[in-house]
Amino acid sequence: MRLFSLSLFASLLLAGVNASAQIPQLLSQSLAWSAPGKAQNPRERIRFDEGWKFFRGDAADAGDSLNYHRLRPYLIALNGNDLINVCDAPRVAPTGNPGGGVSFVQPNFDDNAWKAVTLPHDWAISGPFSADLPGETGKLPWQGAGWYRKHFEIPAGDAGKQVSLDIDGAMSYSSIWLNGHYLGGWPYGFTSYRIDLTPFLQFGGQNVLAIRLENPVESSRWYPGAGIYRDVWLVKTARAHLKHWGVFVTTPRVTDDVATVQADISLVNETGANVPLELSVSIHEVGTDGSIAIASVVMSHSLHFGIDPSKGMEAERSISLELPHPQRWSLANRHRYAAITTLTQNGQVIDEETSFFGVRTIAFTAADGFLLNGQHVPLQGVCLHHDEGSLGAAVSRRALQRQLEILQAMGCNAIRTSHNPPSPELLDLCDQMGFVVMDEAFDCWQIGKKEADLKAPEVLDRYHDYARIFGDWYEKDLRALIRRDRNHPCVVLWSIGNEVREQERNDGFHVAAHLTGIVHEEDRTRPTVSAFNHPNSGYDGFQTAVDVVGFNYKPDEYPRFRKQNPQIPVLGSETASTVSSRGEYFFPVDFKDKLSGRANFQVNSYDLSAPPWALPPDDEFRGLDAAPYAAGEFVWTGFDYIGEPTPYNSDSTNLLNFTDPAMQAKQAEELKALGKIAVPSRSSYFGIIDLAGFPKDRYYIYQARWRPDFPMVHILPHWNWPERIGQVTPVHVYSSGDEVELFLNGQSLGRQKRAPGTYRFQWNDVVYKPGELKAMAYRRGKSWAETTLRTSGAATQVRLAPDRAEIAADGRDLSFVTVAVTDAMDQTVPRTHNLVTFELEGPAEIAGVDNGDATSFEPFQASERKVFNGLALVIIRSKPGARGKITLHAHSAGLREASTEIVAK
Ligand code: GAL
Repeated sequence: MRLFSLSLFASLLLAGVNASAQIPQLLSQSLAWSAPGKAQNPRERIRFDEGWKFFRGDAADAGDSLNYHRLRPYLIALNGNDLINVCDAPRVAPTGNPGGGVSFVQPNFDDNAWKAVTLPHDWAISGPFSADLPGETGKLPWQGAGWYRKHFEIPAGDAGKQVSLDIDGAMSYSSIWLNGHYLGGWPYGFTSYRIDLTPFLQFGGQNVLAIRLENPVESSRWYPGAGIYRDVWLVKTARAHLKHWGVFVTTPRVTDDVATVQADISLVNETGANVPLELSVSIHEVGTDGSIAIASVVMSHSLHFGIDPSKGMEAERSISLELPHPQRWSLANRHRYAAITTLTQNGQVIDEETSFFGVRTIAFTAADGFLLNGQHVPLQGVCLHHDEGSLGAAVSRRALQRQLEILQAMGCNAIRTSHNPPSPELLDLCDQMGFVVMDEAFDCWQIGKKEADLKAPEVLDRYHDYARIFGDWYEKDLRALIRRDRNHPCVVLWSIGNEVREQERNDGFHVAAHLTGIVHEEDRTRPTVSAFNHPNSGYDGFQTAVDVVGFNYKPDEYPRFRKQNPQIPVLGSETASTVSSRGEYFFPVDFKDKLSGRANFQVNSYDLSAPPWALPPDDEFRGLDAAPYAAGEFVWTGFDYIGEPTPYNSDSTNLLNFTDPAMQAKQAEELKALGKIAVPSRSSYFGIIDLAGFPKDRYYIYQARWRPDFPMVHILPHWNWPERIGQVTPVHVYSSGDEVELFLNGQSLGRQKRAPGTYRFQWNDVVYKPGELKAMAYRRGKSWAETTLRTSGAATQVRLAPDRAEIAADGRDLSFVTVAVTDAMDQTVPRTHNLVTFELEGPAEIAGVDNGDATSFEPFQASERKVFNGLALVIIRSKPGARGKITLHAHSAGLREASTEIVAK
C-alpha cells in the first residue's frame, strides 16, 4: 500500500532549517497578535484589471519579428529561472531589445482608437461563429494575435521597491514590453506567472505596458479562449521580501490534540547588502466568509537570520508551530486557517503575506481508495474544461461558483481540471465549498495530440500544441503550478498528464518518472497521477512512474490492474463520455447500439449514446461497484464546453482514442464523411449539464447514486408527443429509492425493484397517450419520493427566474436568469424554440445569453435568444459602484411578456 499521508514526509520537510537559529516565541492562545510595526507592511497587491486598451490583430510593422521562434532565445532566459532546477536552460538572454522598434510597444504610440476593456477579457467569445472553422475550436475566432496596452503611474515614493506584474493567465504566447523595453513573457496560456517591472519603471511618472498574445492555429483540442482572460495584479514589495509563492504550509503531524504546522519560507534579498532580518509566522482562524480573525491568533514563532548577498540572494527557512485542537478541513466542514508570515528588519515590518491552508490528512490507498482525515471518501468527480459557457474563458468567480453549486447539488465532490492548470478562483472556491481537486498540468508532453501517425513524428512540427514547447517549458510550468496551488487543502492529486502519447512508446516511463520527481521535489504531501487511455500502460512499467494510476474509460480494467499491481492506487480519471442534448429524444430507442441516437446534429437524451471508446454511466457504475478499492471516478464532463462536439467532430483528434488499426480506419471513415457536410456543432455534448447550466436527464442518474440519502426521482422523456399517440415510447426513471412504481394517467404500469448492477428503472413498452406520468419511489418499502410529468398545454407566456435577486454592485457579480416558455399552468413547454428579446433597465448589462443548443450560431453576446427545448439563459452583470434596481423584461411574439427585478447593492 502506498500511503500519502502528510505525516509520512514530515522529516523531509525540515530541509533547509537551521535549527540553532530558531528562537521560539510561543504566544499563548489568548494573547492578542502583536507583531511589531504591522501597519507598515509595504507589500501591496493591487488588482490591475481596469483601463486596458485592446487591439485585435498584429502590428503591421512587426512582420514575423515577434513570432515564437524569433523571441524564443529571450523568452526562455528572461522569466521563470527560479522554477528551474533540473533542466539545463539558458539563464542569460541575448543582448538587444526584441520588438523594440515595433509601433505598438512605443510609449507614445496613440492607442486612442483601440477598444477600452476591463480584464478578465476573452476576445473570441463575442464571435462571430464561423461555419468553416473546425468544430474542436468552437468555431470561434480565438486564433491569431491580439494586443493590450495600459498606461499607469507609479508614485515617486515607490522608488526603491520591487514592482512586479502577476498575470494569472493570458492565452497565449505572451510577450510584454514596459516603456518600450522587452521583458519576456510566457507561452503556456494556463500558467500564472510574474514579470519584474522594476528595471524599466518610471517612478513618479507615466508608464506604458504593451502585451502581445498569439494563439497559433492547431494549438488546442478545445476552445482555449483568447486574451488576458484572468486577473492581473501589480505587486509592490521591499527589495528584501518573501519570494513569489514562497510560503509553503504543511501539517506534517495531525492528531485531535495538536497539529504541527510547518511553514517553509523562501526569501529574496535584492538590496545588494547583507540585511539582518527577523521572520515570524502566526496562525489565525478563518471565518466561513474568508475573514481572518486577528483575535484568534494561536501562536507565533520567529527566528532571526541575515541574508548575505555574496552567498546568493535567496534563503530558505522553516518554522514549525503547534496548533492545539485543530479543526479539520473536510468536505462538510471547510475549516481553514491563515498563516501570516512576517518579515521584519530592525523592528519594522518589511513584508507580510497571508497563506490560507487547511489541516487535513489525505491518503490514496490501493486497497481502500481515497481517505480524507482517515475516512474513506469515494471520489464522485467530474472533469471540467475552463470555459464558462457564454462568458467564454474570461474568469468569473460567480460563474465558477454557480457551476460548483449545481455540481454539489448533484452530489459531486471532486473536480479534475482537465487538462490544464485552473484559475486561482476555482481552487479558492473548492477550498470554501468542499471539493477535492485533481490539479492537472498537461494534455501532452513531447509528442503532440494532433498527429495520429506516430511513425512520422517529424511532421508534428506543423502542429502547435504544448508538444512544441514542452522541452523548454515543462519544468517551469509544472513547478509554477505546484508552487501556486500547494497550500490549497482542496488539491489532493497532481496530474502530470492526460492520455500522453508517450504511452505508445517505451519512453513514457522515463518522462513520467522525471515529472513525478519534479513534483515530489516541490511537494511530498500529495501523489502524482496520470490518465491512461492505453491499458498496457497499467502493466508495462509506466504505472510505476506515477503514484496513482488513472484509467480513462476502462471500468473492466480495475480487477486486472489490482491483481497485477496490488500496491498501486487506481481510479477512473475519465469516465462515461456519454453524449446527449438536453430535451432531445429520438425513436425507436436502440438499447444495444451506443452509436445510435443521433439526429439533426443532436444526441438522444436517454443516456445510452456514446462514441466508440466511451460508455453510458451505468457501465462505469457497474465497473466501480465491482472494484470497491478504486478511489472513484471523474466523469467526462460536468458541464458541456465549447469545442469538441463529438460525435459531430470532424477533426482528427478522435483518432487518438484508438490503437487498433481497424478502429482507426473506421473512425477515419466516419470523420471523412462528416467533413463533407456542413456540421453546425460547435460545443460538446458530453456534459451532464448543458452549456447554459441546465441539467440534462443524466444529472439525475448521478444524483441518485451520489446522494443516496437525498429522496429524489426523475422521469424521462418529456410527455409531449402528439405524433406518437399509440406508439411505444420508453420511460426511464432515475431514483435514489430502491423501488419505483410508474403510473400513466392513474394506471400502474408496474412496480420495479432495483436489480443488482442496474442503475435505472425502465419501462420500455409504454404506449404513449397524453396526460400524466407519475413515478412513486420507495426505500425499504416506505414512500421515498414522487414526481409527476404532465403533457403541457400550448405555450402562452415567458417566465423569468433569477438565481439571485441581489448582487454586488462591483462590476463582476452576476445574476443568472432562467428564461422559460410555459403554458398557462406555468409548466415549461418542451420542444419550443421561440425567440425571446430582452430589455434591461438600471445599472447592469447583459454579459451573455445561451440556451444549451450545441448547434446554435446565435451570438453569446446579444439581447435576444431562442429558447432551446423551452429554456434559455440571460446573464446579468452589475456595473462597478452603481447601486440600484435592475429590471429585466422579456418579450416573445405571441406570448405574454415577463419581467423580473434584481437589486445591485
Ligand atoms: C478523452 C480525452 C478528453 C476528451 C474525451 C472525449 O480521450 O482525454 O480530453 O477528448 O476523450 O471523450
